[in-house]
Amino acid sequence: MLRHSLLLSAALLWPTFLTAGLQSTFVASDLRDPMEISLAPNGDVYVVEREGRLLRVIPATGAVMELGTLPVTALRAAEKDSVWAREDGLLGIALDPQFDRNQRLYLYYSAPDKLLNRLSRFTLREGKLDLTSEKMLLEIPTDRRDKVCHQAGSLSFGKDGLLFLSTGDNTNPFLSAGVAPIDDSDKMDHANAMRSAGNTNDLRGKVLRIRPTENGYDIPKGNLFPPGTAKTRPEIYVMGCRNPFRLSIDPKTQTIYWGEVGPDARADSPRGPAGHDEVNQAKSAGNHGWPFLVANNKPYPIYDFAAKTIGAMTDPKAPRNPSKMNTGLEVLPPARAAFIWYPYGNSEEFPLMGSGSRNAMAGPVFYHDVSRKYNLLEKDEDRTLITYDWARGKAWKVKLDDQENFVHMKILLEGLQHPMDMEMAADGSIFLLEYGAGWYFNKNGRLRHITPDDSNKAPQITITNAANVYQVTTKDPENEACQIDWYLTTGTEDRKIGSGEKFELKDSKADQLRAVATDTKGNRGIARVLLQASQLSELKLTIAGKPKQLGYGETVTFAVEGASTAKDLVIRARYIPPTGHDAGGPTLPDDMTNLIKVKQCIACHQVEADSAGPSYLNVAMRYRDDKNATTHLQQKLKTGGAGVWGELPMPPQSAITETESQQIIKAILGLAEGMTEVRGTEKGQVVLPPAPSSAAPGGAWEITAQAPNHIFAKTRINAK
Ligand code: HEC
Repeated sequence: MLRHSLLLSAALLWPTFLTAGLQSTFVASDLRDPMEISLAPNGDVYVVEREGRLLRVIPATGAVMELGTLPVTALRAAEKDSVWAREDGLLGIALDPQFDRNQRLYLYYSAPDKLLNRLSRFTLREGKLDLTSEKMLLEIPTDRRDKVCHQAGSLSFGKDGLLFLSTGDNTNPFLSAGVAPIDDSDKMDHANAMRSAGNTNDLRGKVLRIRPTENGYDIPKGNLFPPGTAKTRPEIYVMGCRNPFRLSIDPKTQTIYWGEVGPDARADSPRGPAGHDEVNQAKSAGNHGWPFLVANNKPYPIYDFAAKTIGAMTDPKAPRNPSKMNTGLEVLPPARAAFIWYPYGNSEEFPLMGSGSRNAMAGPVFYHDVSRKYNLLEKDEDRTLITYDWARGKAWKVKLDDQENFVHMKILLEGLQHPMDMEMAADGSIFLLEYGAGWYFNKNGRLRHITPDDSNKAPQITITNAANVYQVTTKDPENEACQIDWYLTTGTEDRKIGSGEKFELKDSKADQLRAVATDTKGNRGIARVLLQASQLSELKLTIAGKPKQLGYGETVTFAVEGASTAKDLVIRARYIPPTGHDAGGPTLPDDMTNLIKVKQCIACHQVEADSAGPSYLNVAMRYRDDKNATTHLQQKLKTGGAGVWGELPMPPQSAITETESQQIIKAILGLAEGMTEVRGTEKGQVVLPPAPSSAAPGGAWEITAQAPNHIFAKTRINAK
């Protein structure tokens, strides 16, 4: 069945003139909060999105393929006002230096089942993200409570297989008047960056540097603290970072650059300087000051939040971390000034940075090289750092001298839509990732390819469709003849299927049809048609009487809007104990989580979401009152088979032993504990489960409404 969601998309590849001498074309669009890119040797671009998707873009044909979804903790549209895990998600990607041979890549993400962020290596198999291939390298405990922000998460490989990872201070920035978040009061640890960025024994608020090995990683020489130094972590290369977003490594000198998103104070006060964003440069390991200094080493005094008294001023040469939460050294390495720094208002030192909102980022260092296809800047701009700002939508070029000192800066690009990452390809062109217009839930992120303006413009192309015959109209600004090629993308496969102005496509399960027009100079225009309905509609859940609290056994009256049919709706309620918060919904015990990974069940099953197979939660709820469930399910694992959930069969699971089969089925069925559900109705009542013997005061009730092909709704009400 061929369903046309959007009839026809217009030409995608308009050239946009950014500045004299450059042109850009959009090679991917409709991205959802894209976070970071990594370039493959063959020219493909890999993209990660905040909510967990991994995509591959083929710039030459405009193909965008979904390689898989990593389960992550992230803010979802269903609970957009939640203060939990605001900045978590799938945060960073770096392809292995040998990617063309080993298909390996590194991802940094917020674990769905644990309070930590994880750096893992994965392998693509048959072009898809193989979740069972995960090799965990590093886990960093994290706090997700009460608007805790700053996860950073940029990944980048330097020379000699060294992997850099930027991590944020993991601190609530809203409780400290826009100056240093150093609240040492009881129960305020989530607002205290002295426990993280200023702590030599904690991996948060840092740039880490490791060398991945087959089974883990080594510590390279030259990190900030030699291995074995008491109260320090040897992975730390740079400490004292707040939210170090987007790392970049100079390909010749290996100097690293990163943008540092700074605090909010609008003006200097006795509690400290006005907030500044920073572009930082590190030629070697060091301390960049946060939360004790900002900008060009402007110090904060140690403020006592409980007594409201201002204490000792920080000494940039020997900053001290006096916190009771500090598990590291008390006297820190000398602080380094930022390379470029700028406040909300105009900057005296760097007036070209402009004014307004700010989110500093660092891009590549340009070297003029005649052996490459493109040189985006001039010969006398050899050794120029490109920086950009997410909030200001601009990029700048910063000329460096032979010692990598600042010489002068100029504006390079303007009018960008939240630029999120920038990488220079081997041919000298630049890929620039734009996040989309909003803070969250964008569907209009895009990838630009920036090349020198050769003053030949790309053809414009549109597709129309009548009775399965697609036809293109092209217009080339220089009136050159255009070659038209047709491509079809199905899952992770992209095929050229024909040439010429017309193409007939009958029933197709493909995701996307594209026509690419190439003019005689090789400039391209791309138009695409989405073949399958891809827009998910959102469910809305309301609870009658808007109760502030709910108790065990109570009856809750609900109404759901937005479902295409009531028949598929499932409304569920479950109790979340005060200690558990919602660290990722219902979970299997650790050993079972591991087992389903090792036995590759995870390739087709997730706990909460349906994938190739049903979600384990759905299995648990279906067999909740079935006395024969255990026997049936254990038998099913042995024989495999289809028909209970759909047409797709499960292969026989011969890799698991009888004992493992018993354990896993018991654990799956256990997911239904404390959960009630109602199916197939938009309006109705759900009765909360009775109190178990272990019931303790506090906690919350979580009520969800879900249906296939809809964005689920979730609401949380405090428990009595
Ligand atoms: C290649 C994909 C695939 C793999 C791997 C896989 N499953 Fe399944 N599983 C399915 C599909 C598809 C169904 C639905 C079958 C049906 O409709 O009868 C299913 C159904 C199930 C069910 C419900 C059966 C029923 O009759 O209701 C359970 C339980 C289950 N799988 C557990 C597992 C476990 C445990 C593993 C790993 C040891 C595993 N699966 C591996 C695809 C898979």
